[in-house]
Amino acid sequence: MTDLEHLKTDALTRIENAPDAAALEALRIEFLGKQGSISGLMKTLGKMTPEERQIQGPLLNGLRTETADAIAARKAVIEDAELEARLATESLDLTLPAPEAPKGSVHPVSQVMDELAEIFADLGFSVATGPEIEDEWHNFTALNMAETHPARAMHDTFYFPDVDSDGRRMLLRTHTSPVQIRSMVKQGAPIRIIAPGRVYRSDSDATHTPMFHQVEGLVIDRDIHLGHLKWTLETFLKAFFEREDIVLRLRPSYFPFTEPSVEVDVGWQDVNGRRVLGGDGDAPGHGWMELLGSGMVNARVIEFAGLDAQEWQGFAFGVGVDRLAMLKYGMDDLRAFFDGDQRWLDHYGFSPFDQPTLSAGVGAKA
Ligand code: PHE
Repeated sequence: MTDLEHLKTDALTRIENAPDAAALEALRIEFLGKQGSISGLMKTLGKMTPEERQIQGPLLNGLRTETADAIAARKAVIEDAELEARLATESLDLTLPAPEAPKGSVHPVSQVMDELAEIFADLGFSVATGPEIEDEWHNFTALNMAETHPARAMHDTFYFPDVDSDGRRMLLRTHTSPVQIRSMVKQGAPIRIIAPGRVYRSDSDATHTPMFHQVEGLVIDRDIHLGHLKWTLETFLKAFFEREDIVLRLRPSYFPFTEPSVEVDVGWQDVNGRRVLGGDGDAPGHGWMELLGSGMVNARVIEFAGLDAQEWQGFAFGVGVDRLAMLKYGMDDLRAFFDGDQRWLDHYGFSPFDQPTLSAGVGAKA
């Protein structure tokens, strides 16, 4: 056997026996790499006489091709085997028990906001949002609460030390009503929106937390009147509390941004010492509970937002989401909403798979 034949048998045997991809790659470098033995032989062709080269050329080229082919063939075999091995270990045993159920739950506030969005979507409302860091113009001035207006002081506002580029003081919004202004300025009229979100007031006890949630409602169109407001609130509250016997009482009230303003009470009845919503609050054993503020949007607010108050009017309402959740799902301390206590969340939270839908009744099967 010539040296060349020796080299070839040796190379092919070792390639054939390479146990894995790494060993094979080492062999490729050993034979065909820049400093490889076969590459080295190829370089000697240049120094040969034409006659020598005529004989050695085809032999060396053949050696190089055969070696490369052998490496490719072995590589395919190794890769197939590796795939087989992986498939064998990754096999799925369908007889194993299911993994533990997910622990997370939907907070009652999120649940109620989803329910409200669902109910109002059915009435043709879309969901609008605004920033929690507001300026005093959107939060107060455009809502007809001038600098000196006493209602500003009533809101226990958290102010920032900064002013914005227009010199307006920045604050944490004290209600969702600034979204009324932002919606009118941005989309003009007509409008039919709800705006759920966080609001902030410097206040804290069993029924007040410095951060809480409201949902604002706003309808702007032609020929809107108080009857539309009452029907909308009645329809919404019947769907939300899932009772047909919800009775509302509208009381004259005052908000700077609505005229007239109405406070809305809902009738309750005593059921085994518990107040349950439903029924006429004036009946014996019944009573009224204050639920939300509302009214016809003040013409000045419509003008502040850049619309013609001769052409457009509408109603607005604002309601506490946390309070709606407490009334519907029976919690009695608002502070627990924001403690993050796992036991409370396990008890009052909702399954993420239990999406509120009107057809199934928006209430969750807690
Ligand atoms: N923004 C009022 C509040 O926070 C509620 C409200 C909204 C009243 C819209 C009337 C109309 O108390």
